Amino acid sequence: MKEFEYNAVKAEFEAWKGQGLKLNMARGKPSLEQLELSRGLLTALDFDDCVADGVDARNYGELAGMPCARRYWAEMLDTTPEQCFVGGGSSLTMMYDLVAKAWSNGLLHSKRPWSQEKTVKFLCPVPGYDRHFRITESFGMELIPVKCGGDGPDMDEVERLVKDPQVKGIWCVPKYSNPDGFIYSDEVIGRIAALRPAAPDFLVIWDNAYCVHEIRGDYALFPDILKLCAEKGNPDLVFEFASTSKITLPGAGMAVMAASEANIKHMSRLMDAQMISCDKLNQLRQVRFLKDKAHTLELMKRHADVLRPRFDAFLRELDEEIRPLDIARWTEPRGGYFISLYTAPGCARRTVELCKEAGLVMTGAGAAYPYGKDPEDSHIRIAPSFPALADVEKAAQVFCTCLKLATLEWQGSECEP
Ligand SMILES: Cc1ncc(COP(=O)(O)O)c(C=O)c1O
Repeated sequence: MKEFEYNAVKAEFEAWKGQGLKLNMARGKPSLEQLELSRGLLTALDFDDCVADGVDARNYGELAGMPCARRYWAEMLDTTPEQCFVGGGSSLTMMYDLVAKAWSNGLLHSKRPWSQEKTVKFLCPVPGYDRHFRITESFGMELIPVKCGGDGPDMDEVERLVKDPQVKGIWCVPKYSNPDGFIYSDEVIGRIAALRPAAPDFLVIWDNAYCVHEIRGDYALFPDILKLCAEKGNPDLVFEFASTSKITLPGAGMAVMAASEANIKHMSRLMDAQMISCDKLNQLRQVRFLKDKAHTLELMKRHADVLRPRFDAFLRELDEEIRPLDIARWTEPRGGYFISLYTAPGCARRTVELCKEAGLVMTGAGAAYPYGKDPEDSHIRIAPSFPALADVEKAAQVFCTCLKLATLEWQGSECEP
């Protein structure tokens, strides 16, 4: 290790520590400026104007959601209203519920509830979304990591693994994946739609959370997975999810579950025991505010204008400080909420630890892997959306110092006899 270099970086680190910073880039939350874009949402509905398509949003009924909300999502996802079940404020809750129902009752083609299987395994493209993995982990399933590259999951591996009847499903974030920001290629999407799993009730959870969330450039058209699955003779293979959490207000918007009509019927029958209807007032309010896809895409451009400078600030700092040293690589996504950074093996946990000491909270290293364990200890998720721009700039500087220090420490330990 070059002693002088280590001493200089260590001094930089101590200087950051001395500043008593309180920065947080742990979660992909919209910033206050983005929330401001939905100010009109709270006045988008009048008590005397709550009837649409003959349905009174103020009253019970319409388990699968307001007809206008089902039409809205059908247009957004390029599917049909009959295939859209519009629920409450969180798509993650709907995903949990789907898995819970597979567990307690079984899916359309299940021979028995998943809880009665000896072992249930679930495929987890990595790095991926920690909350997905936690859902399947919480039911005691065995999580199997599958490498996810720029085109999507390694399909040779997926096709091999689904030959095992204990493998019951796969998590997918097909557009601007969390955390890499990758878009699955048409070839990968086609192979997923054409899967021939041994389990008759194999489940593709297609979480299209970032379906209209471009940061740069125009809206990227995306294939309709439901149609593709039907064309490949797999109409009931997939459940797609999305929500307005990062279009209007997180957790206070409307979420959708899209699936074949047979699947929607099966799920509706099960849900009938659970509820009479969701918050249709909020569904109507969201539709009145967002209007249609064209209007939503305009709003998303304004979100992008707020997000882009934050991403640019972080990427610029990485370019200036880290690229010349060649000690890490990172993604430069065109949409979504995250940047993935890969350190030298063995340096991620230490980098995040040093960040914390310097007053910058990052997502825990390893969080993007099943059971929170990154076998290489190299991945760090960067979420630049929430802090004010000046704080993102400072956070990027702190992060680069900590990454350099962690790498120098590791190089030092490698050189020890
Ligand atoms: C991939 C993905 N799915 C789902 C969610 C949460 O969605 P919701 O707010 O609709 O529950 C997130 C939030 O970060 C996410 O990244």
